[in-house]
Amino acid sequence: MADLSVKIAGIKMKNPVMLASGTCGFGEEFSRVFDLNLLGGIIVKGTTLKPRAGNKPPRAAETPYGMLNSIGLQNPGVEAVINEKLPFLRQFDLPVFVNIAGNSKEEYAELARLLGKAKGVSALEVNISCPNVKHKNSGLFCQDLGDVYAITKAVKRKSRVPVFVKLSAEVSDFKETARAAARAGADGLSLINTLRGMAIDIKTGKPKLANVIGGLSGPAIKPVGIRAVYEAFSAVKIPIIGMGGIASAEDAVEYLFAGASAVAVGTASFYDPLTPFKIIKGLNKYFEDNSFDSVSVIRGRVSL
Ligand SMILES: Cc1cc2nc3c(=O)[nH]c(=O)nc-3n(C[C@H](O)[C@H](O)[C@H](O)COP(=O)(O)O)c2cc1C
Repeated sequence: MADLSVKIAGIKMKNPVMLASGTCGFGEEFSRVFDLNLLGGIIVKGTTLKPRAGNKPPRAAETPYGMLNSIGLQNPGVEAVINEKLPFLRQFDLPVFVNIAGNSKEEYAELARLLGKAKGVSALEVNISCPNVKHKNSGLFCQDLGDVYAITKAVKRKSRVPVFVKLSAEVSDFKETARAAARAGADGLSLINTLRGMAIDIKTGKPKLANVIGGLSGPAIKPVGIRAVYEAFSAVKIPIIGMGGIASAEDAVEYLFAGASAVAVGTASFYDPLTPFKIIKGLNKYFEDNSFDSVSVIRGRVSL
């Protein structure tokens, strides 16, 4: 077996394959399909201070090579996550990243403080790129460099664990956005969140999502994710978790070449929950076949 272990922001992982936030809940369902101990890590559902019911249905629609979702951060709230969800995950030898979302930098900071006291949190993933909740001007926090800096800084001040900032590729200057997070002290980046999209049912003329606009994910967005990771890798020194359209070991390898230190699998798990497990197997074969002895041999080594 190849040595696929990686260390990102001081966190040791058996391999670079994680489950992406919002596509694996808090791990309970997945644990019935395969052994969570096999994974590199899990990034759990976006967690807010108060419980959220999310948006009105329909809130998912299939699109060519992907899907749109407008879940709207449905989650039981941070208290229930700490008391009911994290204890379940603690039985596994598995780094747990908790994805957090708020309406202000104060809310993000409070989430970081509360989760900092909780047992079993390896890192925070700060979602400042959710397309399904409304912020000022209906934009995303990550579209404002000042917000990127201020939220990251506020979380860093309160967090006792490494902080990964999750960005969207829907920004005007991706490198500047990555640098703003790094300057504020981010320990890593997660790239990319979904891209805003829309689909219309031509029989009724109505949008397929009740929320009209949703986030596009799946293979359709992979080239955008690869571009984001490639640009961020050249702009900042902190580790990157790459995601967006990963459905095979080859996709994961592509992200590693672009500069990712780890990868996360989202949408592909919906049509085949064994995908993350198959990717780990495929990575082992790829590293063995090529006699590569560690992930760092190819990380960021795209040859131009
Ligand atoms: C149904 C669904 C729910 C999601 N919920 C969250 C979330 O709560 N927080 C977050 O940061 N990203 C969320 N995402 C984005 C994913 O974590 C990931 O960044 C994106 O889907 C791209 O990866 P993929 O193409 O492999 O799905 C969600 C994606 C989907 C499809």
